[in-house]
Amino acid sequence: MKKIAVFVSGGGSNFMAIHHQIKQGKIPGEIVLVISNNPNCGAIQFAEENSIPVLIINETRYPNPHTLNELLTDTCLKAEINLICLAGYMKMLPPAFVKQYENKILNIHPGLLPEFGGKGFFGMRVHEAVINSGKRESGATVHFVDEIYDHGPIILQKKVEVLETDTAESLAARILKLEHELFPEVVKAFCENKIIMENNTPKILAYNEN
Ligand code: GRF
Repeated sequence: MKKIAVFVSGGGSNFMAIHHQIKQGKIPGEIVLVISNNPNCGAIQFAEENSIPVLIINETRYPNPHTLNELLTDTCLKAEINLICLAGYMKMLPPAFVKQYENKILNIHPGLLPEFGGKGFFGMRVHEAVINSGKRESGATVHFVDEIYDHGPIILQKKVEVLETDTAESLAARILKLEHELFPEVVKAFCENKIIMENNTPKILAYNEN
């Protein structure tokens, strides 16, 4: 059983999708900790309703970046965390923390990285940029996190067609649904030890065995 920490800032629908599949017994893991910068988000309410321990960590509570990093690292080490899922987490993680958990931090991005990623490309901005570009395809990406925004090695992507009639909102809604399949799928593969690194490229074993 892998011990999972989920980092959230917003509604938490991806967190809920992972939680749901764990409860259904589809993922050999357990969410033992939820961390957020935002004490008032829907994800925190869901965590509390489900008796999952919560840690609120932000610059207001911890103005010193050193203290923040230490608290984050100590908390995850004490909880013996094996996997960290960034599920709509809107803050940059301290570089020392990213190093500590190299290839153990997953992020989901609502676009087909490496396009439409990086600083400034978040939320609706991604979908607006895709619509404005005239691209006929978008999707979602799960990747390992490194020190650069949306940059770490890509593990898995799922695609959707961009329709003539799409607005950023309709595209966002379709992609979010896809994210709820994609993220639990990658979390499951990780928890089953099926993600291996080959030349800094993640490979999901089951996919290559089929
Ligand atoms: C998702 O679109 C995800 O790709 C992005 O932030 C959004 C989070 O949504 N990183 P939710 O909080 O999981 O509902």
